[in-house]
Amino acid sequence: MNTSNKSWVLITGASSGFGEEFARQYAAKGHPLVLVARRLDRLEKLAEALRLQFRVEVVVEQVDLSEVAAISQLHQRLRERGIEIDILINNAGHGLQGPFLDSPLDDAMAMVQLDIASLTAVTHVFAQDMRTRKSGKILLVASLLAYQGVEHFAVYAAAKAYVLRLGEALHRELKRDGITVSTLCPGLSDTGFAKTAQMKITAELKFLMMKPEPVVRTGIHALNSGKMSVVPGIPNKFMAAFFWATPRWLHQSVLARVLNA
Ligand SMILES: NC(=O)c1ccc[n+]([C@@H]2O[C@H](COP(=O)([O-])OP(=O)(O)OC[C@H]3O[C@@H](n4cnc5c(N)ncnc54)[C@H](OP(=O)(O)O)[C@@H]3O)[C@@H](O)[C@H]2O)c1
Repeated sequence: MNTSNKSWVLITGASSGFGEEFARQYAAKGHPLVLVARRLDRLEKLAEALRLQFRVEVVVEQVDLSEVAAISQLHQRLRERGIEIDILINNAGHGLQGPFLDSPLDDAMAMVQLDIASLTAVTHVFAQDMRTRKSGKILLVASLLAYQGVEHFAVYAAAKAYVLRLGEALHRELKRDGITVSTLCPGLSDTGFAKTAQMKITAELKFLMMKPEPVVRTGIHALNSGKMSVVPGIPNKFMAAFFWATPRWLHQSVLARVLNA
């Protein structure tokens, strides 16, 4: 095993998309990993590939994070194995596109549960240990949609606004405990997200999509540099500047047209 770097990284939502890429990039740096998601077969396949390629220790944890009790149980199991998490990548989440009133309430509540409640619980549980050790790093994955409400993404955009605001507050609050908190706000990217969210991907959207590799590299760099938040990619940075510089009605209507074409 590669022993060059012993800080453990826990990645939620590691079975696909950004989470899988976070696992690859941290493994390439020699970090031992805890991979968390529901699809065990995908986690095990990834773990085996990373052990072989990078000679790092990889622990697989099949957890449905929408149950808050399961988060405490995960924390307890890791503690019993003597694993202390130094870097937390709070990435698991999902979106759903559709008119608010025509989407089932259960779907909206499941999104609120995973994207808000579970993310808060995972952060709370693992940051306690970091505070005791006076060191740690936490990356929260929000979205470019966190910057404004978006038609047909009402619950998702609101949930990601929560993530961004939580991250900004904790960035200051936990600094004194030796914990770095950064928030990554990706734009549309080429992962399993669009399919799960039942999004229609037009040619224009496909053109704007980023690959997971540069998004994840930007997130890790922001966390290592102690940034409060980061938007990856020049077109997305341009969009963020556009949101900042224009009245809300204008950027809301532009976004609604682009995303709901
Ligand atoms: N891709 C984009 O365009 C985009 C843009 C902005 C923000 N984001 C955010 O990026 C994050 C990662 O998404 P992605 O793009 O990589 O999409 P993805 O490929 O669909 O990955 C989502 C991950 O979350 C996990 N997950 C979902 N529900 C879970 C649950 N109840 N318990 C545990 N794990 C669960 C999934 O694993 P299992 O299904 O195996 O549980 C999967 O590994 C999300 O927070 C998303 O909101 C994505």
